[in-house]
Formats: sequence, C-alpha cells, structure tokens
Amino acid sequence: MTILRDKFGRPMRDLRISVMDKCNFRCPYCMPAEIFGENYDFLKKDQLLSDDELVRLGELFAQLGVTKLRITGGEPLIRRNLDQIIRRWMAIPGIEDVAMTTNGYFLKPMAQKLKDSGLHRLTISLDSLDDEVFSQMNGARSSATRVLEALEEAQRVGFENIKINCVVKKGVNGHTVVDLARHFKGTGVIVRYIEYMDVGNINGWKLDDVVTADEIIAIINAEMPLVEVPPNYRGEVANRYQYADGTGEIGLIASVTRPFCGDCTRVRLSAAGEFYTCLFGKQALDLRTPLRDGSTDADVLQLISDVWSHRSDRYSERRTSFTELPTKGAEMFRIGG
Ligand code: GTP
Ligand code: 5AD
Ligand code: SF4
Ligand code: SF4
Repeated sequence: MTILRDKFGRPMRDLRISVMDKCNFRCPYCMPAEIFGENYDFLKKDQLLSDDELVRLGELFAQLGVTKLRITGGEPLIRRNLDQIIRRWMAIPGIEDVAMTTNGYFLKPMAQKLKDSGLHRLTISLDSLDDEVFSQMNGARSSATRVLEALEEAQRVGFENIKINCVVKKGVNGHTVVDLARHFKGTGVIVRYIEYMDVGNINGWKLDDVVTADEIIAIINAEMPLVEVPPNYRGEVANRYQYADGTGEIGLIASVTRPFCGDCTRVRLSAAGEFYTCLFGKQALDLRTPLRDGSTDADVLQLISDVWSHRSDRYSERRTSFTELPTKGAEMFRIGG
C-alpha cells in the first residue's frame, strides 16, 4: 500500500467516527441547553449513516492507511446495536485499535456487551467529582456517582487503562481538578485535562475562560509532584506527566497553548457521513451521497484520497496569529471530540 500523505507529509492514521449526533447531556461548552432545546432538529434515521455504510467506510479508510478508530458522538451509546458495528469494525484488516469516547451515562448496562464486542479502550468524560460542579458542566443531566459506577463496571468486565476526559473551564471546575487527580491516583485510570477549546461557533468561547495546561500542572504538582514523560507515540494529543512516586500518570491536552497540528494524522466522519480533515474545518466532503448512489469503492477511495492529498489544515497552530477568531465549521457534537 502506498501511504497517502497530505501537503505537510502527514499520513492518515486515526479515524474518528461520530455514530450519533444526539446527546443526553447539555454541556454548555458543546451543546448549550438554550440552543439544543426539546425541538432541536437532530438527524433523522435515514440521514444517519447506516450500520453497513459505517462498516464500508471503515474498510475503505483502512485501505488508505487508517489503523485506529475512535467512536464518538454526540453520545455514541445512544446508537442501537453499536456493539454489533464494533464487532464488524474489529474484523477489518489493518484496524489495530478501536476506542470509544462516552459520557458514561448509559455505559453500565452496556459495558459487558462492549467488552464482548472486542472494543479495546474506553475514554469516559467526567469534568468534576463534585456533583454541583459536574452539573454545571453537563447541563444538570447526570451525577458524578452515576458515571463512577459505570467506570467501575467497565473495570469489572475487563477494560484496562481507562481514560477520563476533563474539560477545564475557568471559574466553573478549575478548583476541582486536584480532587479528580487525587481520586484516580494509583488506580490505573488516566485523567486527561483538556484546555477548553474554541471549537464550533455556539459556545461563546473566550480566551479568558481557558485554564492553561501550565496552570493545571502547577496546581496538581503542588500537592502531588509530577514528572514530564515522553509521548507513547508520535502525534499523541496529550502531554504526559507521571506522579514522581510512581503511582500513575495524567495527561494535558493543550490545544490552545501548545498546539499539536504538526503531527496531526486525524480525520473525522460526522454521523451524516461528512468527512472533515480538521476539528475546525469549514468544509466537508459528503460521503453519504456517493455511498448511496451506486459509486464503487474505487470511486469513494478516490474522493477521499483527493481531499487528503490537498490537506493543509493546522488551525490550532495558526490560532495565535488570528486578530479575530474566524467562523469555524462543524460543532463538536457533530464531529466528535
Ligand atoms: P488516545 O488514543 O487515547 O491517545 O486518545 P486520542 O488521540 O484518540 O484522543 P482523544 O479522543 O481521547 O482526545 C481527547 C480530546 O482531545 C478530544 O475530546 C478533543 O477535545 C481533543 N482533541 C482530540 N483530537 C484533537 C485534534 O485533532 N485537534 C484538537 N484541537 N483537539 C483534539
Ligand atoms: N473544548 C474542549 N473539549 C471539548 N469537548 C467537547 N467540547 C469541547 C470544547 N469546547 C470534549 C469533551 C468530551 C469530548 C467528546 O470532547 O470533554 O470528552
Ligand atoms: Fe454530550 Fe459530550 Fe457534548 Fe457533553 S461534550 S454535550 S457529553 S457530546
Ligand atoms: Fe489536527 Fe486541526 Fe486539531 Fe490541528 S486543529 S491538531 S490540524 S484537527
């Protein structure tokens, strides 16, 4: 297989597939409740990619060099029969790693089925252990206890090295980051703190709302000393820090203050089949139409290859040079994290 490269020589390795645009949470940084009300027009069933279409695209992307799938949403566990789709993705030659990011709300009863499907890894979003703070971060949709119980069940059925995603927003959950770190220190669970990003156009992002990675490290390091360690693989989104006493690690995803576009091998597929080459991409390639109009695999491969070979995205690296933030493309809930 000749490796497909973009304008900066980056291969396509990591496909993030949103299987569902809906979510039962209303995190203000992603789906503010004032905008996503009762009557919000989410995708209808026939607008979502079908199971067969999702599997076909998995196969085609694998032929172009993708080795890793991350299942995202919205909330992926709202999708029926997800475990059966995962089983089919796992069987694709070349796919080495299949992970999922979930808010954990529906996870407990699904954990065993997901493990049985072969899913390798889980990342669970949990922005605070303090119920009041967590409630502010998720639009009052879940307690932290419910998510923790799901995490325990996932461990019980055999998931290892589970990661926690914690978006940090100044004045909301910044003061609870140490509690979260302390809770998981020594448990094998890796907490990854994420700088609040200006993704999409609806969350009213301001630089002032960002708690920087350096600030988060300083707060945690003051109580539990940390040592920076090298990435597990080239292009890893998180900067890794181990506890000096050897009891585990945390990660910092600093897309605002330490952008990591240079090694970005990620592509995204929305639940409606739009193909994005950047989290902040304005333009997407519609893949649902060719999937449904009888185009051959070769036709679809050509479409994807053309887009990737012309790719020159590096939004986060360029952000600091913008005098005004440009209008961006899709919202996070449409294209996953
Ligand atoms: P591992 O394989 O476990 O290392 O994780 P991953 O590379 O699949 O990353 P993950 O989905 O866990 O990313 C966590 C968060 O980082 C996401 O929810 C986003 O907030 C942010 N993130 C991931 N990829 C990108 C990216 O390409 N650009 C930017 N700006 N942020 C990203
Ligand atoms: N900034 C940073 N991370 C975000 N996520 C969603 N919106 C944002 C944002 N504006 C993260 C969530 C979740 C993942 C799906 O994406 O924390 O873990
Ligand atoms: Fe749902 Fe995740 Fe968005 Fe929160 S961040 S609203 S849990 S998709
Ligand atoms: Fe990749 Fe775009 Fe994120 Fe940069 S901003 S790391 S190019 S997805």
